[in-house]
Amino acid sequence: MEKDVDINKVVRQHLEMDDFFTGGFAVKGKAHASEPQQQADSAAVAEAAAELEKIADEVRRCCRCGLGSSRTNAVPGEGKANARIMFVGEGPGADEDAQGRPFVGRAGKLLDKVIAAMGLKRSDVFIANILKCRPPENRDPRADEIINCFGYLQRQIEIINPEIIVALGAPAARTLLNTTKPIGQLRGEFHEYYAGLGSPPIKLMPTYHTAYLLRNYSQQNRQRVWEDMKKVLAELGLPIPEQRKK
Ligand code: URA
Repeated sequence: MEKDVDINKVVRQHLEMDDFFTGGFAVKGKAHASEPQQQADSAAVAEAAAELEKIADEVRRCCRCGLGSSRTNAVPGEGKANARIMFVGEGPGADEDAQGRPFVGRAGKLLDKVIAAMGLKRSDVFIANILKCRPPENRDPRADEIINCFGYLQRQIEIINPEIIVALGAPAARTLLNTTKPIGQLRGEFHEYYAGLGSPPIKLMPTYHTAYLLRNYSQQNRQRVWEDMKKVLAELGLPIPEQRKK
């Protein structure tokens, strides 16, 4: 049965989120590189983008599990091929399934605000999910689905090689860190994600999923997410935008 929606709460959330998370902040760019270096960099980025597109094509044709036949669209993920930050969620919901793009529903709009509050644009980061297809009725991902799907995300991480992964919510954090600890215990501290034996670990910051934040809407939870994002910015040497006073 559909739950009653408290319209006032929804409106208040939107207004307060705007106030709390929005800011127009400059992002520190990379130091100037020589022209040959710039050419080599842009060739590497183009190659990474082409590799990511290949994975996206595979994902769109994937039928490794039952979700391949129930989905409208697969949602491979999107963003900058050389992003410094990668956000990883659980799996597509109804809006994402309809559009084939990650985080475009209500939780996605809130993620956009978190990213804006960090002084970044959505196009500065890469956004993906553990599962590339929507589980029916948004049920929790099953182990066999995660096992079949996880390889796509692992390859995306290897190609992008972000400096930091932000795991949104327990399923993402637990899968990436191979743990069963609750998100409340994991969040707020950097952990390490190992992309492969030969590569150094990537720093991983677990935080609350924006869908959880919408359901458990409190100043304290928003502040916790903001504290986690401040640690991410500090680790990257990016300026920490001031929070707007309410
Ligand atoms: N929730 C997720 O975990 N991922 C999405 O893409 C959208 C909502």
